[in-house]
Amino acid sequence: MSNHAIEFLEVEKHYSGRAVVDRLSFHVRAGECFGLLGPNGAGKTTTLRMLLGLAEPDAGRIALCGQTIPSQARLARQRVGVVPQFDNLDPDFTVSENLIVFGRYFGLSTSKARAMIPALLDFARLESKAEARVGELSGGMKRRLTLARALINDPDVLVMDEPTTGLDPQARHLIWERLRSLLARGKTILLTTHFMEEAERLCDRLCIIEEGRKIAEGAPNELIASEIGCDVIEVYGASPATLRDELAPFAVRTEISGETLFCYVRDAEPVHARLADRTGLRYVHRPANLEDVFLRLTGREMQD
Ligand SMILES: Nc1ncnc2c1ncn2[C@@H]1O[C@H](COP(=O)(O)OP(=O)(O)OP(=O)(O)O)[C@@H](O)[C@H]1O
Ligand SMILES: [Mg+2]
Repeated sequence: MSNHAIEFLEVEKHYSGRAVVDRLSFHVRAGECFGLLGPNGAGKTTTLRMLLGLAEPDAGRIALCGQTIPSQARLARQRVGVVPQFDNLDPDFTVSENLIVFGRYFGLSTSKARAMIPALLDFARLESKAEARVGELSGGMKRRLTLARALINDPDVLVMDEPTTGLDPQARHLIWERLRSLLARGKTILLTTHFMEEAERLCDRLCIIEEGRKIAEGAPNELIASEIGCDVIEVYGASPATLRDELAPFAVRTEISGETLFCYVRDAEPVHARLADRTGLRYVHRPANLEDVFLRLTGREMQD
């Protein structure tokens, strides 16, 4: 028996004759946080929907909590908490009522669900909103409630599609801290995100997909070392093409994205020297990060 909480083997999904998930394989070990990253339309949500038995794969094998998907999806989902990409709370019910109704899907009695509400609302910092109608909450509050709701069945595995999209920086940091504490308690997390800092902080391992195909997989720091392996100087405030001609001889590689020039450097000194007394230029010298990896592999231009 494998100790993988999630397994994908050569999974395919086609819509209108086009492969949107293309022979995708990956696994998530019990107790780890695994990230699924990719540009808009890469197939992340479709992948999660297949994992949960909400979309049927055209080929391949999927297992969740040791159960075969989709045939045993109902059983597997008893042990899973789900945060969909778009909130599907009932706007006419209160916060508490939403949690109680959701608990019923897992066979929780009203009194059992009610007993869990204070801890769940504390998780989401919504303590004062228990009796508020969901339709009156802000977008970020609804997102936090959806996160709290995913914990009502005390799941072993959390499947989260962009859990922190729409949250302000404070709320995002709160959720990162909460997800870390869930990991410390042995939960397994599979998440998608467009926040590279989030993936870098939370994920033990991640894979990047593009047009449904896996293009990279590994620990964030391994990917940064193998794909970039040097520092970055970002420059903006001048014509990037002209600057590139001047700085390229001192860089391992350069890239232009919009008005910004990216210089990948092993020795930053010569580039610094040429930028130091230029007025009107802004630049920052920093270690490479996961965003550099993502943009290098998927391209700095928008895709859809
Ligand atoms: N039910 C559907 N019918 C037809 N095409 C679909 C369906 N669901 C998704 N697609 C297509 O599949 C592709 C992948 O969509 P998906 O929602 O999985 O992407 P994603 O990686 O989650 O993107 P985003 O980051 O924007 O959420 C897109 O081209 C989308 O238009
Ligand atoms: Mg999506």
